[in-house]
Amino acid sequence: MKPKVLVTREVFDEVLEYLSQHFEVTSNQSDVPMDQGTLAANLSDKQGALITLSDKIDAALLSQCPNLKAVCNIAVGYNNIDLNACNKARVMATNTPGVLDDTTGDFTWTLILATARRLTEAEAYLRNGQWDGWKLKQFLGLDVYHATLGIFGLGRIGQVVARRASGFEMKVIYHDVRQASPEIEQTYRVSFVKKDELLAKADIVTIHVPYSPATHHLIGKGELEQMKPTAILINASRGGVVDDAALVEALRSERIAAAGLDVFENEPKLNPAFLELKNVVLTPHIASSSKATRLKMAMLAAQNLVAALMGKTPPNLLNPF
Ligand code: DGY
Repeated sequence: MKPKVLVTREVFDEVLEYLSQHFEVTSNQSDVPMDQGTLAANLSDKQGALITLSDKIDAALLSQCPNLKAVCNIAVGYNNIDLNACNKARVMATNTPGVLDDTTGDFTWTLILATARRLTEAEAYLRNGQWDGWKLKQFLGLDVYHATLGIFGLGRIGQVVARRASGFEMKVIYHDVRQASPEIEQTYRVSFVKKDELLAKADIVTIHVPYSPATHHLIGKGELEQMKPTAILINASRGGVVDDAALVEALRSERIAAAGLDVFENEPKLNPAFLELKNVVLTPHIASSSKATRLKMAMLAAQNLVAALMGKTPPNLLNPF
């Protein structure tokens, strides 16, 4: 008898075919997110699950899934999984590090350029039929070349973003819980600074930290007040790292110039005030969404699930116990 697994959201056919070689697969190809009750009911007789960041794995859920041995997230971030609860329930949890760094780094640059040069605002103006000719002072933006880029979090994705900054001949400063090695700093041409210094000096602040209680509202009212009024803020990491209500106020009052956001508190119900503001570029959590990368993420998660349920250590195990 093959182990039973649940695929909680729509995935690529290749992934389902691969999983079907090993498991009896139930998949939610209609892609309607499951509420906790439906998820628990679907998982009650399963040994494993391929899950996404919209699936909350907590103690209450795990208590209803006696056969569950592995939950494999199709994401590098795993703040949707309570690892302590998984440990207690002896459920392995995995994520997908590495395969999305370049794509997410590219998209961070998409947001940086679109925000600095007011791309979506200018396009909407043109599409609305408002353009009546060239004007010297039209959509004046921020120069990215030679600017100072401030990176919060010099992990894999932060490093990709730093590497791409050299093409724009930027000065790159970063802050992290730990200073990187001299080799890393040299490779990526970055200098470590304290949080306050980064906020005060950067023309572009970009965030690449995981979400956790320690990074909750890393950027709030106080931090936004320390930024230059000409600066822009970019977030393609996780909602909750930025205090969205404080950011709305900073954008509304032009305390900072603009923001580019791919992630939000309470996704997908973003703060409606963002929609009223012109100085923010908004995208629906798609930083890792190239076709090739999303396939790699789903495949890696599936490989983790196969390893976990075949008695091997999954390559991206988060909670060895
Ligand atoms: C991740 O991998 O954590 C991304 O946010 C998913 O798109």
